[in-house]
Amino acid sequence: MYFIANWKMYGDLKSLKSLDKVIKFANYHKRKKIMIIYCPPYTLLHSFQNKIKKTKIFLGAQNCHAELSDGPFTGSISPKMLKRIGSKYVIIGHSENRFEGETDLQINKKIKSCIKCGLNVIFCIGETHSQKKKKITSQILKNQITTGLKKIKFSNKIIIAYEPVWSIGTGLIPKLYELDKNVNFIKKVLKKNLKIKNPKVLYGGSVNPKNVKNLRSIAGIDGFLVGGASQKANNFIDIVKKTII
Ligand code: PGA
Repeated sequence: MYFIANWKMYGDLKSLKSLDKVIKFANYHKRKKIMIIYCPPYTLLHSFQNKIKKTKIFLGAQNCHAELSDGPFTGSISPKMLKRIGSKYVIIGHSENRFEGETDLQINKKIKSCIKCGLNVIFCIGETHSQKKKKITSQILKNQITTGLKKIKFSNKIIIAYEPVWSIGTGLIPKLYELDKNVNFIKKVLKKNLKIKNPKVLYGGSVNPKNVKNLRSIAGIDGFLVGGASQKANNFIDIVKKTII
């Protein structure tokens, strides 16, 4: 099971302290099959890496530029830079970036560059509220998957995070039968259209210690991408505990 902490645009050096508890927890449960990945803002990647270097926790970034290496791109960070700093994972296609204008084509380019340089990709997909109301969720998900992953090799380095846009930061989660249907649909597309043998699909959107027991009852879910609730160590640990115990 994967547990990804997406800190978004929050956190400073002081917040690193909250990692102590999580490191202790991860160490204690090291024999359980759990993968804890922290994705802090760029400004904290280096400090995080120093802190988690010899622990059971992995480092990830929240985005990157589509260009593989260095270049004249003011304000951007390349996949290679992330790799050099110790990132093993990177979130691509988050709806908050899509909302700012990131296209499926750019997402596809970014994923290609990340895979080329050996990063694992957490690829976010999900329908908006109006798409859900129009009952075109499956069509949207299929489209996001096939264009985002077009001509991509080594797709075992890609984990899908299914995040309904209307569920992010709202406290709303899908009905369990809907979630089950959508997760199964995503896995079917990944297996059939992209020939991925054992696809991993996470759920993200308002996951918290209270609703995680229900969410984890969906057999196809391989973990959670957690935003708000990942900023407090106790909440994040509770989410992991309630999933694995
Ligand atoms: P949330 O965010 O848990 O705060 O809803 C999830 C995400 O955006 O990845």
